[in-house]
Amino acid sequence: MTPRRAAILREMGLAPLWRLRAADDAAPPDVEIEANDQSPSLSRPSPLPHLSAAQPEPDSSPVAITSPAVTTSPVTAPGAEAGANAHSPLQAAGMGWEELEAAICGCRACGLCQRRSRAVPGVGDHAARWMFVGEGPGAEEDRRGEPFVGAAGKLLDNMLAALGLKRGEGVYIANAVKCRPPLNRTPEAAEIAACKPFLERQIALVQPRVLVALGRPAAQALLGREISIAAARGKRFEKDGIALIVTYHPAYLLRNPLDKSKAWEDLCFARRQLAD
Ligand code: URA
Repeated sequence: MTPRRAAILREMGLAPLWRLRAADDAAPPDVEIEANDQSPSLSRPSPLPHLSAAQPEPDSSPVAITSPAVTTSPVTAPGAEAGANAHSPLQAAGMGWEELEAAICGCRACGLCQRRSRAVPGVGDHAARWMFVGEGPGAEEDRRGEPFVGAAGKLLDNMLAALGLKRGEGVYIANAVKCRPPLNRTPEAAEIAACKPFLERQIALVQPRVLVALGRPAAQALLGREISIAAARGKRFEKDGIALIVTYHPAYLLRNPLDKSKAWEDLCFARRQLAD
């Protein structure tokens, strides 16, 4: 393996885990990376190595800690009707960025608002070509008000780096639900539905060329139906005319690192949608 290739794989946290096929072992010609560069910038998205997983695929769902304690039906602030409240997701359709982020931060449309420290609207380039959608904020995101800033976020940043992207440049990152589900449990269908107009508005404002759903709840939010990641991978869906690709959630990949090779295939597939 060349030093440049090793650097790319290291950025994704893949180096000890991916097995390269001999036929593809040439380094990408247009990637400018030093072997010991911690934060390489790729000159442009380039054909990266074809990699194969060494293990069969386990359950594809991300973190699934269930907690029975949380309300599943949309709730409103005392004395406020969901439709009439200026912070209601139902008002999101005509909003600009500032108004939208204020609405998300003040939203009380479902039970998740009750235990949040901060809502987590989204982060990145408002004119991005790529939009990644995760599940919902975790503890660190809830503290900081920014998506994917914990361990899963580090892996996501490495995945972006491997694509020649970085947070804030050409990429927008959002979640299916904007408030942390208690104990990091999977957001419930009613919570995803309550938050959906915010996500829809973010997509409408960004107008990305490709949407990447990270995990099952994100795919469910974007497709409006249940899917299994294993079945949906490698397919091009469309959301309002935008290419939509489904892959594993980074938190799942942290627990199942051998599946990173599949996630990389999915990202390469997503990148091809930009070219089409
Ligand atoms: N997992 C997610 O789905 N989103 C985040 O913002 C952080 C972790």
